[in-house]
Amino acid sequence: MPENGLERISILIEFNVLQKISEVREQVSKWKSEGLSVGLVPTMGGLHNGHKSLIKSASKSCDRVIVSIFINPTQFGDEEDLDKYPKTQESDCLLINDAGGSAAFIPNVLEMYPIGFATKVSVSGLTNILCGASRPGHFDGVTQIVAKLLNQVSADRAFFGEKDWQQLTVIRRLVRDLDISTKIISVATVRDEFGLALSSRNSYLDSSQLNIARKLSSILQMSAYNIASGGYSSVECAQAAQILLESGFEKIDYLECRNSHSLDLIERTTEDECRIFAAVYINNVRLIDNHVVV
Ligand code: PAF
Repeated sequence: MPENGLERISILIEFNVLQKISEVREQVSKWKSEGLSVGLVPTMGGLHNGHKSLIKSASKSCDRVIVSIFINPTQFGDEEDLDKYPKTQESDCLLINDAGGSAAFIPNVLEMYPIGFATKVSVSGLTNILCGASRPGHFDGVTQIVAKLLNQVSADRAFFGEKDWQQLTVIRRLVRDLDISTKIISVATVRDEFGLALSSRNSYLDSSQLNIARKLSSILQMSAYNIASGGYSSVECAQAAQILLESGFEKIDYLECRNSHSLDLIERTTEDECRIFAAVYINNVRLIDNHVVV
């Protein structure tokens, strides 16, 4: 039984908050025995309209939707923002309910990583480029927790946002390689009116930093357009990086054009779909985005 604020919320809106893996399994078996399909939306909380769109997509295609909220410590590096990651479970539950979610799964760290936990889950190749190059071990943490969640929930479908395109690609490979039967569904990035991809990390920016952040998407789009029109991606990306720095971004972690599926570097467009990927910093806040090259 959930405690404090969460208990209040679950009574107030008759919302199902589960904290134990056994409760999730029991709930999902019950739904399945009634012939209902089940969707899973894995999150780390701090829910915003981007998550809302994932939950809405899930509730359109599944009869019941579980949203997990777990700030997974194993995907954060030592220097990263684990401690300041937003913790907003009560408003998260209201948003889930509002978006058509049926239950939240909010386990604690010991439930997910009991004493003696020793298993690693790692997808090689796709994980040592882009975000994986500057966040060593990050994707091992992601695949570890996502593999666990997919096993715990046994959903028919699990929903992930396209903003984290590399994560999505890595998870698709994980599911294929380990024969996990949950189908992975991608959902388009939700942007504000200026094109800024919604992210929990946007809340760390003040208004002048937000104005800078809002330039990212259009600069990437321009570059994607130039590459699609025959430009060399190394040249276009170097030019876009320069424009980003002149626009007030502090540091560029990467800005690259890659095949959307293999994530191989692309110099000129081919028949295969490719995307432009960026990770940039404003005041130590790391933002990522990507755009398809068409
Ligand atoms: O994208 C996220 O919020 C996280 O990486 C995920 C998939 C919930 C795993 O912790």
